[in-house]
Amino acid sequence: MDKLIIKGGISLKGEIRIAGAKNSALPILAATLLTQETIQICNLPHLFDITTMLELLGCMGVQPIIDEKLNVEVDSSTIKHFSAPYELVKTMRASILVLGPLLTRYGQAEVALPGGCAIGSRPVNLHISALQAMGADIVVEDGYIKASVKGKLNGAHIFMDLVTVTGTENVMMAACLAEGQTVIENAAREPEVVDLANCLVKMGADISGQGTDTIIINGVKDLHGCSYSVMPDRIETGTYLIAAAATRGHIKLKDTRPDILESLLSKLEQVGAEIKLGDNWIELNMHGKRPQAVSLRTAPYPAFPTDMQAQFTALNSVAAGTGSITETVFENRFMHVHEMNRMGALIKVEGNTVIVQGVDALKGAPVMATDLRASASLIIAGLVSENETSVDRIYHIDRGYECIEEKLQLLGAQIRRVPS
Ligand code: EPZ
Repeated sequence: MDKLIIKGGISLKGEIRIAGAKNSALPILAATLLTQETIQICNLPHLFDITTMLELLGCMGVQPIIDEKLNVEVDSSTIKHFSAPYELVKTMRASILVLGPLLTRYGQAEVALPGGCAIGSRPVNLHISALQAMGADIVVEDGYIKASVKGKLNGAHIFMDLVTVTGTENVMMAACLAEGQTVIENAAREPEVVDLANCLVKMGADISGQGTDTIIINGVKDLHGCSYSVMPDRIETGTYLIAAAATRGHIKLKDTRPDILESLLSKLEQVGAEIKLGDNWIELNMHGKRPQAVSLRTAPYPAFPTDMQAQFTALNSVAAGTGSITETVFENRFMHVHEMNRMGALIKVEGNTVIVQGVDALKGAPVMATDLRASASLIIAGLVSENETSVDRIYHIDRGYECIEEKLQLLGAQIRRVPS
């Protein structure tokens, strides 16, 4: 397993390109199962999770073709199996996203029950109950979700007890080929849900309301092929902006979308950053100033994203003043706090809130990544530390950040990957 060695104390400066969104690319790759025609997907990020999803399609008998520009063409007409094995699901919970497409197109699906992960138990009960409301027979046995339906799924009026991103995506995909109309109330409003909906509409689906809390899908007979480019990754964007603010730097991010980051950008202005925006770029300049501590509370979109909570905790750890951060989406998303406190941070955990008292700088130390976004926060902590930090178990980071050390080196960071 590799680790990253970071020499802190350098302000990030320069400009980099943002990759396609992991959490949009994954459901869109699953959506290719909904048609017998070829789908071309562009702007895919080069990430382990994308490779895992392509492997999953492969083990069903669907052979994606990757062209010279790393765009992917998927023709799922060669599909032979309708199951997602535990070996793959255990490495990527988003494999659950093939459940809805397989069920609605082929009337059957067998998907390993995704286990919990570092950030929480991550149940999928809402996915299951919604599909059952659409007429699916579903049993969970031997660690597998075994689903089937005779004929077509039926459209249904579904109220999601909790806002669930992949739950909304699974039901939306299943509803595209169901008989009649499906209404999803309390639907997730995340931009990645909208991106998936826009791709499905391009494939011939009849969807409205995406981006609001009520999505309406009228089932159609078939979906056709199309070419679709995945939206930019707002979490990658936010991670680099937070890193630049924490290191008192000045960066410009290209090929991104400022319009879906309002909650973060307003927090970064409170931190003291000067922010400039273009259609597809964001510039952040701290003018060398120390960031001011701010408080925030995570919640479903458009509120502050839970996927940027750990990164902001790292920023607050070296900010002027004290800030509180409350996590309302996942029950155990403070694993990074203990590692940061080993680096000299002054962070207290009180239930689902952390109280962060800023210090001038952290002290480099060997630390261990526990999940994708915690890994990113430890890299930021390393960037704002005196001397050297080593972050171990960075396979977590490679799941969600494309070429992270190269991009940080382009921004002036002293970071290198070594085998551990
Ligand atoms: C998606 O996960 C993202 N992953 C996560 O990003 C993100 O943190 C999360 O949404 C919240 O925004 C992908 O899109 C691939 P949820 P998802 O269902 O869909 C509870 C990253 O770092 N819940 O919206 O799995 C659940 O326990 C990852 O890129 C149920 O109780 O999250 C959680 O408390 C991490 N039952 C809350 O809802 C269900 O059936 C929100 O989870 C489903 C969810």
